[in-house]
Amino acid sequence: MNALSHNVIMADRKKLKSANGMYLGSTGSGKSFAAKRELINVFLATQDRIVIVDPMGEYSPLVRRLGGQVIEIAPDSPHHINPMDIEIGLNDEDSPLSMKADFLLSLCELVVGGKDGLQPIEKTVIDRCVRLVYRELALGLEGAKMPLLQDLYEELLKQPEPEAKRVATALELYCTGSLNLFNHPTNVDLSSRVVCIVLKGLGENLRKIAMHVTNEFVTSAVHTNYQNGAATWCYFDEFHILLRDPLTASYFVAVWKMLRKKGCVPSALTQNVKDLLASREIENILDNTDFLVLLSQAQSDRAIIAKQLGISEHQLSYITHSNSGEGLLFYLAAILPADSYEDKGVYTFSPYQVLPVQVQNTVASGRDRRVNPTKTAYMVYYRDTSGSGYQWSQQALTRERGQEIVDAGAAVERRVLSVPADRSYITVEPGQTAESYTAGLRQKYITALVLAGAYVVLYAAAWCVVVWLKKEKG
Ligand SMILES: Nc1ncnc2c1ncn2[C@@H]1O[C@H](COP(=O)(O)OP(=O)(O)OP(=O)(O)O)[C@@H](O)[C@H]1O
Ligand SMILES: [Mg+2]
Repeated sequence: MNALSHNVIMADRKKLKSANGMYLGSTGSGKSFAAKRELINVFLATQDRIVIVDPMGEYSPLVRRLGGQVIEIAPDSPHHINPMDIEIGLNDEDSPLSMKADFLLSLCELVVGGKDGLQPIEKTVIDRCVRLVYRELALGLEGAKMPLLQDLYEELLKQPEPEAKRVATALELYCTGSLNLFNHPTNVDLSSRVVCIVLKGLGENLRKIAMHVTNEFVTSAVHTNYQNGAATWCYFDEFHILLRDPLTASYFVAVWKMLRKKGCVPSALTQNVKDLLASREIENILDNTDFLVLLSQAQSDRAIIAKQLGISEHQLSYITHSNSGEGLLFYLAAILPADSYEDKGVYTFSPYQVLPVQVQNTVASGRDRRVNPTKTAYMVYYRDTSGSGYQWSQQALTRERGQEIVDAGAAVERRVLSVPADRSYITVEPGQTAESYTAGLRQKYITALVLAGAYVVLYAAAWCVVVWLKKEKG
């Protein structure tokens, strides 16, 4: 709901250049609530699939009501995901077995630990064992069983190298030891339309491994859905907890860059802007995010965000001590990140002709606008005096005024910013840079939001539909 116009805001994230989204706000500002509202919308209005990574276990009731699958990963949980699961298709572009080997290598790296990680020989034996363990499945033999971690462990024990023993011993804890939760066949419905992975109450070691297995699951779900023509909306709540581990953090950087090409619509929710921007790599995540919900912010975070996004004082007032669910919404459909531009320097342009063009009639209102959707405008065309071929044009009030400008022939300086990816360019004031230009654009796209009241109504309406659908079915 727009705070100023009181209109409902409808936005399709999939239409953005990048559907990546972020919900930032201090604790209790309404991030999870806003994400739940969005995902109900996705559930009701589309056929898309939804994956939630939930470190607090607060999405379970909602997901259960939507008929989805809640998977609790914990030592005493009855739910199991087998990290060795693999789908070996016939015409896959990327080899699933190599990807699995890669995943299992990093899993062993986590398990073995230590600051040096795995040694080259250890990597070789693990890779060898992985291929042996999957041999029957890869050959498509009848009765071939999905392997478990235990099979990898036993295969490692059979190898002559002492290095293999070292890895096997480290794996033992997770196979026959007390942390054997990943040593079971998958007994949850991973193909459910809504899947929620709960990572609550895990110790440090187990959390890293659980995160790694979760990441693997999310990646493979996105790939499978993509092959079936469905998009996957992924929600990562309490994102700062997930970022603590470097392996997971680098995974998210990859999600932001690559998975979106596979129809993934990722959202990260966090109360901790400082941590988010602490590392240059993760900071990139924000640059590649075109959908941003900014809710009430702590004072220090507010300053950081204002600088990063170029928010004005007035706009800041919407995220200062605001109520739950109130804030700013960024929907940056048409804005290229600043680093997409190449600065070509300042050129001198002189006017050479006036031409009439049809432009959208934005001034007229009501009936007049409907009858005359376009109107004639007069553009004064400028060209670069050094012969580079760059052009610039500016609208004149009337044809006569335009002709006067051409006759006077006064030169104008403009900075040229080229966009190599599109082989196009724009011109800006000589004093501007790509950064200040895009910051200015962002500013224009910020919309003030008051979600609260109407949100609750929407939420209630969504529930009624869900309950009614259930009744119809039953
Ligand atoms: N749009 C809204 N309208 C009315 N109340 C809301 C709205 N959004 C959130 N609230 C209220 O604020 C409370 C906190 O919201 P929520 O749990 O989403 O916060 P959060 O930002 O996720 O906090 P945390 O960082 O602690 O997880 C909710 O229980 C709800 O009562
Ligand atoms: Mg929350």
